[in-house]
Amino acid sequence: MATFSDQECEWCRRDFPSLGHELEGVPIAYFDGPAGTQVPQPVIDAVAGYYRTCNANTHGQFSTSRETDQLLHETRETVAAFLGAPSWREISFGANMTTLCFALARALVRSWQPGDEVVITMLDHEANRGPWLTLRERGIVVREVALLPNGTLDPEDMAKVITPRTKLLAIGAASNALGTVNDLALARRLTRKVGAWLLVDAVHAAPHFPMDVVALDADFLLCSAYKFYGPHVGVLYCRPGLLDTLTTDKLCTQDDAAPFRIETGTQNHAALAGVKAAVELIAGCGEGPTLRDQIVSAMEALMVRERELARRYFEGVRAIRGVRVWGPGFDGGHRAPTVSITVDGIPSPEVARRLGEVGIQVWDGHFYAQRAIEVLGLADRGGVSTTEGDGHVLVGTVPTAPPLQGCAPAAAAGSRPPGLRWIMAGR
Ligand SMILES: Cc1ncc(COP(=O)(O)O)c(C=O)c1O
Repeated sequence: MATFSDQECEWCRRDFPSLGHELEGVPIAYFDGPAGTQVPQPVIDAVAGYYRTCNANTHGQFSTSRETDQLLHETRETVAAFLGAPSWREISFGANMTTLCFALARALVRSWQPGDEVVITMLDHEANRGPWLTLRERGIVVREVALLPNGTLDPEDMAKVITPRTKLLAIGAASNALGTVNDLALARRLTRKVGAWLLVDAVHAAPHFPMDVVALDADFLLCSAYKFYGPHVGVLYCRPGLLDTLTTDKLCTQDDAAPFRIETGTQNHAALAGVKAAVELIAGCGEGPTLRDQIVSAMEALMVRERELARRYFEGVRAIRGVRVWGPGFDGGHRAPTVSITVDGIPSPEVARRLGEVGIQVWDGHFYAQRAIEVLGLADRGGVSTTEGDGHVLVGTVPTAPPLQGCAPAAAAGSRPPGLRWIMAGR
């Protein structure tokens, strides 16, 4: 397996121009990855290069159009390798995951009857809840898998709410709010037993773990390239042959076959050039004879590295008096390197604002996992502060200067300003 040494990480960092961006003389620390990664130069070049060299619509009898057709085909093949899909035919593109999920829900409901059931979870991002909840207008019953106080889904409840009336379980692979990795093997066993489809929202898992749609035995899987160093493009995987059986919203002029059947209008070709470049960049960090081997080996190395960084932050932040960490710990099995905290006496937006003042970018609020934040009783406190990145920087040290007065002296000197300890010291 490939590994990421400190030196290799340093080389990788050079590919990201935004890492040189500063706030008042201090490099910005991007902990805001849960809502999208920074974009490396090869991806930026691919997007710009498309406009420079082969900007055209598809299916024309001239060179730039043919090059565009070829690019889109190659991007599908590359994304198929990223997800472990059997071929490009299973890979559809769209504006983003949310839009594709709505389109899929509208297609699926056409073959369902009032009284049929869809199961969603209390942990999921609204993008994997809202599209299914709207089906209540069509008489579909929507049930929810309960969230336990430890930030994991209740397996007994999952077994209870999936019944012979269930048509589909829509479940996240990993939570963007709490880092929880869900038990998809259990989800598959339970859905198989009753003949229901399994839809996996892998938007938050795909940047952190190798994806394998065949091993997951997923019927549908969605992800979003801006979470793994690419532009804003949504990806839908459908089990071979499945999309061809669905009645999608489409124009009579549109290609009827999968994967095009669910793709309306002109795709963002330049962004798709960037998606291909993003996956190739990941593959370039791995090893092995095939693109798929390289992707898996790179993602495994990334997973190990990220886990170590997140575990360090988790332990460091947990040790600060007055800070509470939400979601599962790092002692058990799989866990995304996403850590959410609350700080006693300081609402989360204020924590994020104070860190933002010194160039440390963290998220606050419900982060679109609104139901989970409500269920955990955190909505009134402004939700959580959610991060991914080098925890050492974020935990910081206790400074001599008080917070909330702009950048600390260390920042003015061009070094990394103190992080959460600094905020805690000045409460
Ligand atoms: C877990 C999860 N699902 C779905 C989405 C929505 O993705 P998109 O912005 O591509 O619609 C996000 C975005 O943050 C997410 O984190």
